[in-house]
Amino acid sequence: MESTKTALLRSFALAGQSNVFQFFDQLDVSDQECLLSQAETVDLAEVNSLVEEHVFGDHSGPGNLTSLEPAPYQARPENGGDASKWEVASAAGAAAIRAGRVAAFSVAGGQGTRLGYNGPKGTYPVTPLTGKSLFQVFAEKITRTSERFKVNIPWFILTSEINNDAIISAFEESNFFGLSRDSVHFIVQGLVPAVDFKGKMILSEKGKIAMTPDGHGGSLRALVRSGATKIMREKGIDVVSYFQIDNPIVQCIDPAFIGFHLIGNSELSSKMVQKEYALEKVGHFCVQNGNNVVVEYSDMPEAMQKEVNADGSLRFNGGSVAIHIFDRDYIERIGGSTEGSKLPFHRADKKIPYVNELGAIIHPEVPNGVKFEMFVFDALPMARNPVIIEAAREDDFSPVKNATGIDSPKTCKEDQLRMFARWLKAAGEYIQTDDSGLPMITFEISHLFAADESDFISQWGALDSKPEITDGFIIE
Ligand code: UTP
Repeated sequence: MESTKTALLRSFALAGQSNVFQFFDQLDVSDQECLLSQAETVDLAEVNSLVEEHVFGDHSGPGNLTSLEPAPYQARPENGGDASKWEVASAAGAAAIRAGRVAAFSVAGGQGTRLGYNGPKGTYPVTPLTGKSLFQVFAEKITRTSERFKVNIPWFILTSEINNDAIISAFEESNFFGLSRDSVHFIVQGLVPAVDFKGKMILSEKGKIAMTPDGHGGSLRALVRSGATKIMREKGIDVVSYFQIDNPIVQCIDPAFIGFHLIGNSELSSKMVQKEYALEKVGHFCVQNGNNVVVEYSDMPEAMQKEVNADGSLRFNGGSVAIHIFDRDYIERIGGSTEGSKLPFHRADKKIPYVNELGAIIHPEVPNGVKFEMFVFDALPMARNPVIIEAAREDDFSPVKNATGIDSPKTCKEDQLRMFARWLKAAGEYIQTDDSGLPMITFEISHLFAADESDFISQWGALDSKPEITDGFIIE
């Protein structure tokens, strides 16, 4: 330990971060060892450049916004898109799934602070009747899609060092939700130290550096570093279907989306939804200097968010919902890059509990430090032939972000119920709903029965006798 200690103390001092070891002599031996092994994981060169750029530097924002144009997208047939193109894309996507070229990839490494749930977000009970967890919902969709296309679809899950053990335990306890163990791959994402406004690393305890996950954009380098892209290559997988763990209604393996991606020879494809109102808090798909980008609502002037076309529709109407298809080689190019095309970090000022000079842990009332994160959509401008397709919000996007209000467990349960009712109606059944499409009864469709609407229609149609849908009924 002595030589490691000397070397680390020296390199941290050289980097101006010797404060990390200010309580070292007060720690017992095992806490000293923990601090040293945590310090070994810190990329000091990366921290230095982040501090230079984002804490001391004049980090430029999203660039010149006056040249922004709305990004073109493939409209849905019901909104004027070419139905035959969607059919061709669905067939192409289905063929790729059947050929075993597709993997599911969920990012679940976040801290879920807004939800305020004690545990990894993926274990949050989310379905309206049986309270299945987010992980179970996706496991069932993947199981059903594998069955439907007669293939084994692997599932890669991004965790972080903070929640990886708890996530693996949740899978163990539930027998991997019926999936075969060797088709589930956990990828641990990197952590980055948080710093104070003077650029000094923050201690969360006397012997612990405050570190946070490196953002969903960190998923790309985690896939490469962990060897996951190598596994994909060995399995013949080149299409990676990316979604977030908090959105249970996402069509996690969508044939039409995959088809458009492949036909477009795209390195990175995205789904957009029409914004519901001008100032909706979503990122906007735009073109900047000839490249597709996502501009956060917080970076786009309100007047621009409200601009309308001649017909009164919103000019910047394309909202980003964090649903993408990645080409595996593109992940290797971006995630394996040491410079040039690697993703930028963003700064977020946060309230970060810290140890003061007396050794007491303080929970600040106002932001006292900086957290660094990469965003996955920053991979867009560097992608060749990026494709954007329109998604129906009600079939793809209802995330659980907040404990109450917008994007909460309540809104998500209701959106699932509306979706189940729509599926039944599309299959020719009668079900009483209110004006918003919300059924009068609570029932559930297991995703082991159907993964999406077209699947439900064929599954339901194949039933010899149709059950009566009553309050509390589960279609499974
Ligand atoms: P959010 O930006 O909503 O963050 O992540 P969050 O951590 O879930 O929640 P808050 O902001 O603390 O309330 C969107 C998706 O990206 C994943 C999350 O797990 C979620 O699926 N994510 C986020 C990561 O995998 N790693 C990260 O470092 C950040």
